[in-house]
Amino acid sequence: MQPDMNQTSPSSTPDPRRVAARARLDRLWSAGTSFLGSEVALLGGAMSWISERHLVSAISNAGGFGVLACGAMEPDRLAEEIAATQARTTRPFGVNLITMHPRLDDLVKVCLDAGVGHVVLAGGIPSGPVIRAIKDGGAKVVAFAPAYVLAKRLVRMGVDALVIEGSEAGGHVGPVSLTVLAQEVLPFIRDIPVFVAGGLGRGDAIVSYLEQGAAGAQLGTRFAASTDSIAHERFKKAFIRANARDAVTSVQLDERFPVIPVRGLFNEGSRRFLAHQAETLRRFQSGELTKEQAQLDIEHFWAGSLRRAVIDGDVENGSVMAGQSVGMITSEQSVRDIIDELVDQALDALIRQEDRMRRE
Ligand SMILES: Cc1cc2nc3c(=O)[nH]c(=O)nc-3n(C[C@H](O)[C@H](O)[C@H](O)COP(=O)(O)O)c2cc1C
Repeated sequence: MQPDMNQTSPSSTPDPRRVAARARLDRLWSAGTSFLGSEVALLGGAMSWISERHLVSAISNAGGFGVLACGAMEPDRLAEEIAATQARTTRPFGVNLITMHPRLDDLVKVCLDAGVGHVVLAGGIPSGPVIRAIKDGGAKVVAFAPAYVLAKRLVRMGVDALVIEGSEAGGHVGPVSLTVLAQEVLPFIRDIPVFVAGGLGRGDAIVSYLEQGAAGAQLGTRFAASTDSIAHERFKKAFIRANARDAVTSVQLDERFPVIPVRGLFNEGSRRFLAHQAETLRRFQSGELTKEQAQLDIEHFWAGSLRRAVIDGDVENGSVMAGQSVGMITSEQSVRDIIDELVDQALDALIRQEDRMRRE
């Protein structure tokens, strides 16, 4: 990323306009920082295989709020990862649990026993008992709201904060963009903090959502390509090369066989997925496969493929999940530099706004 004009160098005396802008930014996201216990209301969204001890602790140590991705981990493995993260940071971080995990209750217990303060529930609307168990155990519950009606329902169910994630995001996505979700949710959900996610790559954009009422922002893609991320060099290079339009959602060939939309970089794997769906469809139509077998065959295509891309570096055949914000990544930066840059851009935006108001 190009450094912004207008930035102060660390050695110069603080620009009073920057100090005032920082105070304003801190007010704008105060609901987020006090909820998270972090310096800046920027969450590192959980990313399976990527959001592990190194990246999560780097985000929290840089003043943000890291979130560990539990993914398919078993309880013992999660306990180990939480302990390793706690050894690297004394700052707060959260744990993201997938609600479909067959051992969800045990994973919740692991988080509570380890003193994790925030549990993020992803992958569907969580059940009332799970929300209660987390809250009774002394932790806060964060959930994803893909629509206003669901946001209201989650508030009634007692969640402590929401993330609204637009379809611009990397990974599993809903159908609605953040621009629209923000308008549907932010003016109306005022009792609990709402964090925005999806397609965010610059601090000025984050400011615009804070001004609409967001408590903070969650970013994934930008952190995935950071020097603190354990992702394979080829995975990061693919992010640096890619433009926004390369991060597309998976294509469904036939409405009888639904495909969960996942946003990632189009590659040889995406091409083979289309051919695989066509072949599965042919086998179903010829009676070789039942509808259930065909659906499973399609669902299993990507099994293990995120690991293949992230860890093994097979960015041609693996699943290179990425948000449209990937186009804003032009180099590998440290998490600290990314957070500093986002804050600087936010301050520049607030200063520009102040200048405009003064001129009017
Ligand atoms: C590689 C990758 C893996 C992801 N895995 C998960 C996951 O396991 N659980 C989850 O809740 N969100 C997951 N996400 C979504 C992120 O937590 C975050 O909300 C999203 O990346 C924000 O949009 P952005 O990518 O445009 O910044 C993933 C995103 C990416 C890019």
